[in-house]
Amino acid sequence: MKIVVVGMGYVGLVAACCLARSGHQVIGVESAPEKLSKLRSGILPLYEEGLEEVYRKTVESQHLSFTDDLREAIEVADIIMIAVGTPSLPDGRVDLSQVYEVSGTICEAADHPFIVVMKSTVPPGTGKYLIERFFSKARVPISYVSNPEFLREGIAVWDWYHPDRIVVGCDDARTAEKVLELYSDIEAPKVTMDITSAEMVKYASNAFLATKISFINEIANLCELVGADIKAVAPAVGMDKRIGPHFLQAGLGYGGSCFPKDTKGLDFVSTFNGYSFNLLKAVIEVNAKQRILAVRKLHKLLGGLVGRRIAVLGLAFKPNTDDIREAPAIDIIRYLVDEGAEVAAADPLAIRNAASQLPPCVKLSPDPYEVLHGAQAVLLATEWPQFIVLDWGKVKGLMREPFVIVDGRNALDPEKLTELGFIYCGFGVLPKFRG
Ligand SMILES: NC(=O)c1ccc[n+]([C@@H]2O[C@H](COP(=O)([O-])OP(=O)(O)OC[C@H]3O[C@@H](n4cnc5c(N)ncnc54)[C@H](O)[C@@H]3O)[C@@H](O)[C@H]2O)c1
Repeated sequence: MKIVVVGMGYVGLVAACCLARSGHQVIGVESAPEKLSKLRSGILPLYEEGLEEVYRKTVESQHLSFTDDLREAIEVADIIMIAVGTPSLPDGRVDLSQVYEVSGTICEAADHPFIVVMKSTVPPGTGKYLIERFFSKARVPISYVSNPEFLREGIAVWDWYHPDRIVVGCDDARTAEKVLELYSDIEAPKVTMDITSAEMVKYASNAFLATKISFINEIANLCELVGADIKAVAPAVGMDKRIGPHFLQAGLGYGGSCFPKDTKGLDFVSTFNGYSFNLLKAVIEVNAKQRILAVRKLHKLLGGLVGRRIAVLGLAFKPNTDDIREAPAIDIIRYLVDEGAEVAAADPLAIRNAASQLPPCVKLSPDPYEVLHGAQAVLLATEWPQFIVLDWGKVKGLMREPFVIVDGRNALDPEKLTELGFIYCGFGVLPKFRG
């Protein structure tokens, strides 16, 4: 099929590359000049494991090309996939301006029937609204399908080929079948439903996962008060098949481009519809509090923050990505700097993205040992594997008293670090490990 994918971000670029690898003829449309020129000159504008190879091969075989001219790209399209950003507005509402702009252009330029597939995460009800406002008004028939994306950054290419399910929301069975043909080489349950339900599946899934994270963080906070150890509690809770082991890691909470904006977006949709989603409001509040908790732990263990030297390990919102959107580390570093601390931070991939988001006084380096030099405390904010296996004896030699470690991901070995002479502090980890 001839497919146009609009928006070459984490979702659109992965979709474009993988669809091209499946043999489709794909045009990727990107409006940001810098990104487009990179894509055209053989450089990936973002990091995703395994994407480089798919990108090179599909460009070489001429299955994939890039443009900023959506109108021209549409001329040959069977399917137009929208994968533009849907960020949060300050009041929590979802900013749909990119979706509206693309939808408007598609309608104006449409000169033959095709299918519009919405990959961007849009609030329940958006599809119906887009049909009413744009697609039903085009000169030619345009079918609309909601096809939410569940891939995880860092392993997005793997997820593309191994999804837990493929959801297609559409009012017409033949159109749904045609869209499912895109995934004919992927073995996964394929579920069809109406458009608004498909949109809700995406929000409900992310809200539920965020709930698990905030829930286990509340339990960890309670563990600290009653003297229980979350590192023993959480895995045992997760062994219950009805609960499952995933998203039960206590610590700094969720970040990234999806959970924060999707939870806030669903909360807004609820309020807009006259419903108070109290559970979701608590999930959002707990998540915000975990970041402040990290600052409080550092404050307490260092006896204040003014002039204290703190190394932050990890800037990306999770390992294996360069994405720093809503990353806990960014908020925490800003708090620490505001409170007078001197902060240096390391990350293997996210330095470039983080630099523009942080005060210039924050020293950044890809080398953890460099930022640990002279630090009195270290905060592990992202559990990059290379940080877990640092030579902690060497780290101790580089740091200064009182040798504090705040383990924001409960990923380090408390006993080993305590033995080395560190003051270890996790989230909900038993006090005996705190030195
Ligand atoms: N990132 C994820 O892990 C993930 C997972 C599932 C779903 N989603 C959803 O997918 C959507 C895209 O997410 P993302 O992380 O890829 O976003 P992104 O911000 O990384 O990428 C969006 C891209 O669209 C481009 N763009 C905006 N307007 C355009 C236009 N008019 N024409 C052409 N290009 C345009 C932007 O320049 C940008 O490169 C969002 O709705 C998001 O919620 C994201």
